[in-house]
Amino acid sequence: MRITPSILNADFANLRHEIGRIPGADGVHVDVMDNHFVPNLTIGLPVVECLRKVTDQLLDIHLMIEDPDRWAPAYAEAGAESVTFHVEAAHAPIRLARELRARGARASMALKPATPIEPYAEMFDELDMVLLMTVEPGFGGQKFLDLVLPKIRRTRELIGDRPIWLQVDGGVSVETIGRCAEAGADTFVAGSAVYNAPDPDAMVRELRELADSAWCC
Ligand code: DX5
Ligand code: ZN
Repeated sequence: MRITPSILNADFANLRHEIGRIPGADGVHVDVMDNHFVPNLTIGLPVVECLRKVTDQLLDIHLMIEDPDRWAPAYAEAGAESVTFHVEAAHAPIRLARELRARGARASMALKPATPIEPYAEMFDELDMVLLMTVEPGFGGQKFLDLVLPKIRRTRELIGDRPIWLQVDGGVSVETIGRCAEAGADTFVAGSAVYNAPDPDAMVRELRELADSAWCC
């Protein structure tokens, strides 16, 4: 069970300090938005390059951008251990996944809540992680969409015994993480749940314990 908190709800003026508040996390989830793929604008490559210099945490980059084929490889070159592109935006997802791996990063593919997983099952061997959005991407603090639970279950079945991480992102909290783990997710993004907590690192531990005890498989 991996907890990868999103810094979207952290203090953007103090990101080094904010990452330091979650030493027990399994990685730091960085939401990159371009105001085209989603109606919001956050941070990009220069900030990720700076974060790389000040933390040894696994950097888990979630690109909510158009044309990831063009922009994603640079995040791998910047030293991010995991780079996620949206399949709805990628022109050539298999080629892109291979380019990410060739640059030393884990290759990961994200799906919005209404995008079915079945058409992509054949390319699982090209991937190190699948991210299933449990809200519409674009903003933190939204309500978890239970309608994604059957897709989490189905994706876990399709993964079979491959060493692919199954990440969920959006509305993950003490209320919802058990449902996700029970359905087969093993990697959890939580933004507002972690950074609105009085002790973010204690919340990371609590979320991990809840996921462990609900884990399906
Ligand atoms: C939403 C982002 C998420 C989000 C998570 O588009 O991809 O990572 O920030 O925030 P919470 O946990 O508050 O839903
Ligand atoms: Zn995200």
